[in-house]
Order: sequence, then C-alpha cells, then structure tokens
Amino acid sequence: MSETLQAVRGMNDILPEDTPAWEYFEQTVAKWLRAYGYRNIRTPVLERTELFVRSIGEVTDIVEKEMYSFVDALNGETLTLRPEGTAACVRAVLQHNLLYPGPQRLAYAGPMFRHERPQKGRYRQFHQVGVEALGFAGPDVDVEHIAMCARLWKALGLDGIRLQINTLGGPVARARYRGRLTQYLEAHQDHLDEDARRRLHTNPLRVLDTKNSHLAAVVAGAPRLLDDLEPESLAHFEQLQEMIRALGLEFEVNPRLVRGLDYYNLTVFEWITDRLGAQSAVCAGGRYDGLVAQLGGKPQPACGFAMGVERLLALMQDAGQVAAPWRPEIYLAHSGEGAQAHALRVVEQMRDQGLSAVLHCGGGSFKSQMKKADASGALFALIVGEEEARAGKVSLKPLREGGEQVSLDAGEAARRILAARPADAR
Ligand code: HAM
Repeated sequence: MSETLQAVRGMNDILPEDTPAWEYFEQTVAKWLRAYGYRNIRTPVLERTELFVRSIGEVTDIVEKEMYSFVDALNGETLTLRPEGTAACVRAVLQHNLLYPGPQRLAYAGPMFRHERPQKGRYRQFHQVGVEALGFAGPDVDVEHIAMCARLWKALGLDGIRLQINTLGGPVARARYRGRLTQYLEAHQDHLDEDARRRLHTNPLRVLDTKNSHLAAVVAGAPRLLDDLEPESLAHFEQLQEMIRALGLEFEVNPRLVRGLDYYNLTVFEWITDRLGAQSAVCAGGRYDGLVAQLGGKPQPACGFAMGVERLLALMQDAGQVAAPWRPEIYLAHSGEGAQAHALRVVEQMRDQGLSAVLHCGGGSFKSQMKKADASGALFALIVGEEEARAGKVSLKPLREGGEQVSLDAGEAARRILAARPADAR
C-alpha cells in the first residue's frame, strides 16, 4: 500500500468535531458585523505579488520571508497567496470604484497564508475576520473598530484581552523620527542582530517590532515617536483616547507598538492576551490613510483591523466554552425492496419541514441500522419496513428520552419531532 499523504506543514484540517465551534464563532461575528453596518466582501486568495509588495512594504517580515509566491507557469505572472486581507480589499474597492457613492464599511473572512515557523497559535494557513472602513478620516471610526472588538470579546464570552494603542503620526513626524531612531540605532549597532542591522537604514521602525528578546533593552531605550508628533496627529490621538474612555473601555498606550506592516499611520492598536504563550496578539489594526493613493486611487483615509480566528477559538476553548456537537434530528432506517421508494419520499418530506434527516444507506438488518441511528446522535429514528410502506406510514422511535415506538403518517411524525425541539430552536 502506498504511504498516506499528510497536509502541508502549518496548514490544518478543521475536522467535523471542531466545526461547531468555528460555526458558532462565524455566526456570532457575522451578526455583530452587520449590527455595525459592515457589508461582506470576498476577494480571491491569489493576487499579483506586486499588490503585497506595494502595500505591506518591501522591508517587512511578511514580504521578505513569509509570502507563498510563485510564477504561474502558464503566463509568467508572479502570484502570491494572500498573507492578509487589507491590500486585496483596497484593490477590489479601487477596481470596482466602490468609493464613488461615498465611504464604505466592509468586512471579510477567510484563510491567509504566511510561511512562518509553525507553533501553537501560529500557522502557515490561518484564518482572519477583518473589517475595513474607507473614506472616514476621524478618530470616530477608529473608536468604532475598538468598540466592535470589545463587543465581540463579550459576545464570545472572552475576558482578559487587553487593548494597546499607539500613534505612528503623520509623514512629517515619522520622517523626523526615522532620522532620530536611525542615529540612536547606529550608536547601538553592536547590540543589534543581523536583521536589525540590515533594517537600520531601510526601515528602522521595524527594528522596534523585533521578535528577538535580546534586543529588548535597546528597543526600550529608543526615542519615542510619541514625544515628537505633529499637533494634528496628537489631537487625533487624544480624541481617540477620550472616546475610548467615554465607552468605559480600558487601554494602555504602548509607544513601541509599530505593527509589522508598513501601510499604517496615526492610530494603531492590538488586542493581546497572556494566555496563548508567545502568540499574544488576537486582533490588530489601525489607520492606513496613504494606502488607497499608494495603490493608484484618489487619496482616501481608511482604517481597519483583523482578528486571528484560531487564536480566539483557542481562548474560547481555554475558557471552557464548548459548542454543542452537531447531530441530526432524524435517522431513517429502512429495509425491504418495497420500502425503499417510500423511505426516499418520507426523508425528503422531513427535510421539506426543515428537519435534518439522515437516510440510512448501504442496507443491513434493522438491528444494525438502529445501532447506526444511535451512534449518529439522532434524536429520533424513523423506521420504514414493508408494512409501513404498504400502509403509507412510518414508525417513530425516540432515541434519547425513552418513549414508545408509534406508527404515524409522515406529516404527524414531522409535527411531533418539531414539537420536541427546544423552544429557542423552533
Ligand atoms: P496582522 O497583525 O498581521 O494584521 O494580523 C492580524 C491578526 O491575525 C493577528 O493579530 C493574529 O491574531 C492573526 N495572525 C497573524 N499571523 C498569524 C499566523 N501565522 N497564525 C495565526 N494567526 C495569525 C493584518 O493582517 C492587517 N491586515 C490587519 C488590518 C486590517 N489592519 C487594517 N486593516
């Protein structure tokens, strides 16, 4: 026998026993995204590599070492599996002129791909739910995003997720800061690692974002952008903080929070937890007012965030939240040639009534079929033999709470099964 194939490292199958938790998460999030007026957008998982280089930035971990890029052998185009959702969302908005009628609130969900070293909470294929608000300049939208996240943590029963915010200022202050930071880092070259030394002159802000703990002291002593902001940026940041306070939410200003993608300016934020080891960020985002123009559009302010679904699900699991496993309401057992057609009609009739019904396939004795019915977790068995087929009836047997087997017509059986549903599922 040949060897069984395994999934690609860092890319996970999500098995049926896990999907109820995913579905619960997706439904809860979708409900709240709608409550805030965000409309769903879906873009391809594959884009031209150039899109990510131009948006995320050439000197970033993602673009330098984490992208799944390849040349399409059929036409020579260089393509990349999307490592994040913002760039594609902005690309689609520009391509379809979605900003023509006015600002847009958009949301997306789906797999993203980064060639990182896999560990708990860090995968090569992972899932994000993200939102992007395009065409809004004020900190009121920044705070809307923060409020949405806080609302979601509550709706998902999660606590202990802390909010950190920072501002990256505008282009003038950042250019000034870049100079000061480069000078400082040059003075500490001996303490930098290879990555940091390389970035020193290409993208010094990235050095602050290092994952190397040996650089912690150098980073801690670095000058702060926050101390030299333009007045408008400072005002934006102060208003944002006032509004977060007005919502009664706690937060911490972290002047070292620079984010791993280059498109940000002004507000940046991360939601972090101590419960997931090294992978502490469950959600992150901020303002990217320059990106629309950078990708060829008329300048438009914008901001957004994305959360890591696997990380949030892990937190929900740690908090003891277990989604009820899915089980059918009906398992239909049938035997005898004359019974087959009747069984097929009955099971469709059940589905017409909105019931979930599994039809036994593959034959076998009633005894073995009833064992399967039990193992399926179904609440009821419907039994169709020659006798039921002749009489145009079905036998209904409760499988979980006891009770007699009764012979009924299919419509009455459906009514009884529906009546047995918990009130909130009717
Ligand atoms: P990001 O910080 O790169 O931002 O990713 C957002 C979230 O995705 C992270 O906080 C984390 O929870 C999750 N995540 C990232 N990488 C992995 C991984 N390898 N395995 C598991 N989870 C991961 C962005 O992607 C921006 N596009 C967010 C944004 C939207 N900014 C503005 N709009």
